[in-house]
Amino acid sequence: MYVTAVSEPLVLGIETSCDETGVAFVRGQQLLSDVIATSVDEQARFGGVVPEVASRAHVEALTATLEQARSRAGVAWHDIDAIAVTAGPGLVGALLVGVAAAQGIGVALDKPVYGVNHLASHIAVDRLVHGEIPQPCMALLVSGGHTSLLRVNDVTQDITQVGRTLDDAAGEAFDKVARMLGLAFPGGPHIDAASQPGDPGYIDFPRGLTDAASDREHRHDFSFSGLKTAVSRWVAAANREGIGVPIADVAASFQQAVVDVLIMKSLRACAEANIDTLIIGGGVAANSRLREQAMRRGHEAGVTVRIPPAILCTDNGAMVASLGSALVSAGRHPTIAALSPDLLYPESAAILVGFDADSSLPVELVSLPPPAR
Ligand SMILES: Nc1ncnc2c1ncn2[C@@H]1O[C@H](COP(=O)(O)OP(=O)(O)OP(=O)(O)O)[C@@H](O)[C@H]1O
Ligand SMILES: [Mg+2]
Repeated sequence: MYVTAVSEPLVLGIETSCDETGVAFVRGQQLLSDVIATSVDEQARFGGVVPEVASRAHVEALTATLEQARSRAGVAWHDIDAIAVTAGPGLVGALLVGVAAAQGIGVALDKPVYGVNHLASHIAVDRLVHGEIPQPCMALLVSGGHTSLLRVNDVTQDITQVGRTLDDAAGEAFDKVARMLGLAFPGGPHIDAASQPGDPGYIDFPRGLTDAASDREHRHDFSFSGLKTAVSRWVAAANREGIGVPIADVAASFQQAVVDVLIMKSLRACAEANIDTLIIGGGVAANSRLREQAMRRGHEAGVTVRIPPAILCTDNGAMVASLGSALVSAGRHPTIAALSPDLLYPESAAILVGFDADSSLPVELVSLPPPAR
């Protein structure tokens, strides 16, 4: 299969891995439209994401979201060069909705479809704001389901994991601690807001995996479960003693403990690998304290820190379209190519139309290869 690189491709991006239905159009590195429908209010009633609720909400929202994104971008369907869709990781039922839609549009328009990795997309979105992703760079991916330190040699095909969380993801820790403090779901933005008037030094919560032994064995890994337990114990003790829980101070101290470890380990990994750019992506990168301190400490360490605007850190279609556009520009193979000639042969058509959603896609696999014939 011969693939031609297109320099300023018009790419449709579809994201349905969790509870956001995101659709966007990107031309080259320019974001033309980005529309998000979310089922977060429905999920908040349950205090977390219910997969079945998310899948149904995607089915209901997707057609209108697609049409709104297309009209805001001011493009026609037949103008697009390729479709990119999140193929994993994520909730399998939710992923399937986006993947099926992308396959249908690919067949209808006879355009190539790229099944891309949600986590690589969280990094690739930054090229829409700060320009091409430097090679190599370090990426800190901090989201609701993942926390990893990645060496990005080429965002279209070469990402290696340097470190990862051994237990909770950073976003998960924010969500769980928020619940302990009686704050709403998702907890990250509420902790961020509640902590504003608080004292980050009020309680010296543990910084996970920073002691001497961990420094050797888990130098670039993270752990947030000990911190979560420490907050839980502190809150329980305060309640027992009837002194009341100073929400702002506890939130600020917890947040500082997370931020300190994330920044220290990321900048140290940059220094040790002799890499001068750190990109931070994923929902927790929307955190105001992390953003401010990463920029400042990065500057002091001689590392350029790039963080997309908060709206592009949480799940959206722009990140998927951005990675798709990078893949097309680099001439990478689509997961399914334009179909017409092979559709003449029904037995091969089924293979060419389909690829599966992969709920546990590993972070190193940037996009799904074509299915074997
Ligand atoms: N301002 C903030 N401060 C801290 N955390 C935040 C903030 N805004 C959002 N988050 C957290 O980001 C997470 C959502 O991020 P994202 O949408 O990238 O996760 P996800 O897509 O569910 O997970 P993954 O990307 O790992 O599949 C939630 O845990 C949320 O609490
Ligand atoms: Mg995400």
